Amino acid sequence: MSIRTLDDLLAEGVSGRRVLVRADLNVPLDKQTGEITDDGRIRAVLPTLGALTEAGAKVVVCAHLGRPKGAPDPQYSLRPVAGRLGELLGAPVHVAEDTVGDSARSTVDQLSDGQVALLENLRFNKGETSKDDAERGAFADQLAAFGEAYVDDAFGAVHRKHASVYDVPARLPHVAGRLVLREVEVLGKLTGEPERPYVVVLGGSKVSDKLAVIEALLPKVDRLLIGGGMCFTFLKAQGHEVGTSLLEEEMVETCGNLLERSGGKIMLPVDVVAADAFAPDAAHDTVRADGIPSHRVGLDIGPETVAGFAAALSQAKTVFWNGPMGVFEMPAFANGTRGVAEAITKTDAFTVVGGGDSAAAVRALGLDESSFGHISTGGGASLEYLEGKTLPGIAALEN
Ligand code: 3PG
Ligand code: MG
Repeated sequence: MSIRTLDDLLAEGVSGRRVLVRADLNVPLDKQTGEITDDGRIRAVLPTLGALTEAGAKVVVCAHLGRPKGAPDPQYSLRPVAGRLGELLGAPVHVAEDTVGDSARSTVDQLSDGQVALLENLRFNKGETSKDDAERGAFADQLAAFGEAYVDDAFGAVHRKHASVYDVPARLPHVAGRLVLREVEVLGKLTGEPERPYVVVLGGSKVSDKLAVIEALLPKVDRLLIGGGMCFTFLKAQGHEVGTSLLEEEMVETCGNLLERSGGKIMLPVDVVAADAFAPDAAHDTVRADGIPSHRVGLDIGPETVAGFAAALSQAKTVFWNGPMGVFEMPAFANGTRGVAEAITKTDAFTVVGGGDSAAAVRALGLDESSFGHISTGGGASLEYLEGKTLPGIAALEN
């Protein structure tokens, strides 16, 4: 099981060669203005792209944005991303108007050594996400024609069995880019022998999304701190009323079983911020977790909970955090997420932030990214890695 790396490819020499790079440029866009609200994933791929351009490769980047339905859809165009990528690279990015059509072919043909092209959204093509091997394969053939070698640097998409992630590496010499390599190294530490105490903080809205990772983590961790919308299903399982808070009724029994089996490892909120409505300006108070009024909705963990979580975190030698503690997009309900994030930065533990919302929260709250050991670019991908699942994109690099 060995994965070749970008350094192996660079050692062979890439000057004048076309290198196809799969990146994860799936960044959040402002719904009104269409502007990029968090460019973390674009910045994360710069080390790989920079190394290739410096070495004189003709770099062809492919990526997805959002979930278009297999046909071109202007609201999911990668054009705004190309602009930002060019700014960050300090060099223009040649943009194709399609993914594998005439525009893509001529854009790639015109590349000089050390230049970068970006193909249009992979998911404008049915073959990218098709469940049919032949349909995916046919699309992968077209993509593979753009490269003499393939670099996977799209960690956030390695859990998808998609043409650009799974089938292209079967058609070209393939290596892991710098980002994929770093992510796998870091997450591998957590699934291997993490230094103890190992404390995991989970938040986010749904227990059902996190069930598999909770099951996989419970035997490994010393403490599992649960906040966010999903804590209310656990509180309900403890017999508490949760008002109009988010509740997955069908998961209450499962949560009860998890609590019973957890050997006291699971820590739940003891107080919550409960509001009259799900709104930024709603009237709100801190209440006991076992005393949420029937007409109120819990939107954040309370200060006593933050202090308890911080105390557990201060003992930790390894920390993994995925999912916000409350509705951090609304300042009135951001204190829990901020408090926990700050507690994580203050430990001398090795700290890892899962991708998606928690990575976005770190940046949106203005926290110093460098005070975390690692901020993953993968949301679903990092969770599936910790679950111990085989990730199609990683398996394809191992072959
Ligand atoms: C992500 O944002 O999680 C990755 O880019 C994968 O996107 P997807 O969940 O739409 O496959
Ligand atoms: Mg996802």
